[in-house]
Amino acid sequence: MAKAQETNIMDKIVSLCKRRGYIFQSSEIYGGLGSTWDYGPLGVELKRNLKAWWWRNMVYERGDMEGLDAAILMHPKAWEASGHTKSFADLLVECKSCNGRFRQDLLKGESCPECGGELSSPRRFNLMFKTFLGSVEEEASTVYLRPETAQGIFVNFVNVQGAMRRRLPFGIAQIGKAFRNEITTGGFTFRSREFEQMEIEFFVEPESAKRWFDYWTEERLNWYVDLGIRRDNIRLREHTQDELAHYARHCFDIEYKFPSGWAELEGIANRTDFDLKKHSEFSGKQLSYHDEEKKEWIVPYIIEPSGGVDRAALAFLVDAYREEKVRGEKRVVLGLDRRLAPIKAAVLPLLRNRPEVVSMAKKIWENMRGPFRVTYDDTASIGRLYRRQDEVGTLLCITVDVQSLDDKKVTVRDRDTMEQDRVPIENLKPYLAEKMEVK
Ligand code: GAP
Repeated sequence: MAKAQETNIMDKIVSLCKRRGYIFQSSEIYGGLGSTWDYGPLGVELKRNLKAWWWRNMVYERGDMEGLDAAILMHPKAWEASGHTKSFADLLVECKSCNGRFRQDLLKGESCPECGGELSSPRRFNLMFKTFLGSVEEEASTVYLRPETAQGIFVNFVNVQGAMRRRLPFGIAQIGKAFRNEITTGGFTFRSREFEQMEIEFFVEPESAKRWFDYWTEERLNWYVDLGIRRDNIRLREHTQDELAHYARHCFDIEYKFPSGWAELEGIANRTDFDLKKHSEFSGKQLSYHDEEKKEWIVPYIIEPSGGVDRAALAFLVDAYREEKVRGEKRVVLGLDRRLAPIKAAVLPLLRNRPEVVSMAKKIWENMRGPFRVTYDDTASIGRLYRRQDEVGTLLCITVDVQSLDDKKVTVRDRDTMEQDRVPIENLKPYLAEKMEVK
């Protein structure tokens, strides 16, 4: 029963996302493409807000971070150096009856989870998407769509450090697309084949790596809580030795309590000097740092907080979803933090058959547009307009009525408290700006 209720919440989120323009299936008119998603008008705003706050908090507000936007395609040797061509693979088994393919590590029994058929013995399946550079489809021109953004940072370590005259410790932050040909997908956008990552590679002196690892683990957990994830729904889980990736000495996952159970939102890893040393070895270029005080060259250790934009967006959506009873009626609200909410205010005429009211509302909308996403809607009765805006998480509803024509004031309703304020039209912009002010 509990399971059915939990699944039901995810179904409701999926339906809301589609109906209200958050997330659509990719190429839906052609039947969709497995585990790839298009973010609609509201989804794109949510993701942009999420990324903008990550960038602001992780780059602008710190003195020890630089940004980067590396190419998705990299020299194929980079993936040999990183170990991805050899090790970035899952064990795959195939059902001899229905031909279903499954990740061996996720299987519960020994037979096919779909039809109960006999399974083949496991074989390794590399998760990187291959493509070709130029017009010749041959092995020499094979390149990969990056499965993580991190490698673009490692190979630019000396470029960034030199150009920006950085001393240790400092970090390089990057947001960008990554691609994995996942065998097992699902959980809506949770495991997609094309997704975005927000990654930091933080370069430190080897002796201070443990301290920085602890620091970043706490810092990143707090970031999600500060942006609205309920503390009870997020936790840290340490990787056991046999779970650790080939490059990691120590790793914590930040996990979110999704309706189907706890699952990874972000990983914080101590990657040691593995990556810089490997790229030095494969490229023949020295990727090290001159310590002016000690007068010696060292290879920094790297602490990596690596999160997914899509997973974070999904967690924020699930966490914000609530159903309430207001005067006997059901109210669905997306209680997203004001910084993440796609639409900050909606201007709504109370009487859509009164041209003066409609025209005044449109003028207000026009004047308010600019710093924040503000919308206008006159396609239903006011009750329905409120419900629509609550369901997508709009912070303020600004209602224009007949009285507004005389007193030049409007009613502003708060999404969460549902309290109403009568605000002079000329004060609306500063009123919204104050609501949005960063504390
Ligand atoms: N550079 C380290 C790295 O890529 P990872 O744990 O494989 O580590 C980091 O990925 C984050 O990227 C995950 O915590 C998750 O949020 C996101 N992620 C990974 N695979 C994903 C997928 N198939 N779909 C959506 N997000 C994914």
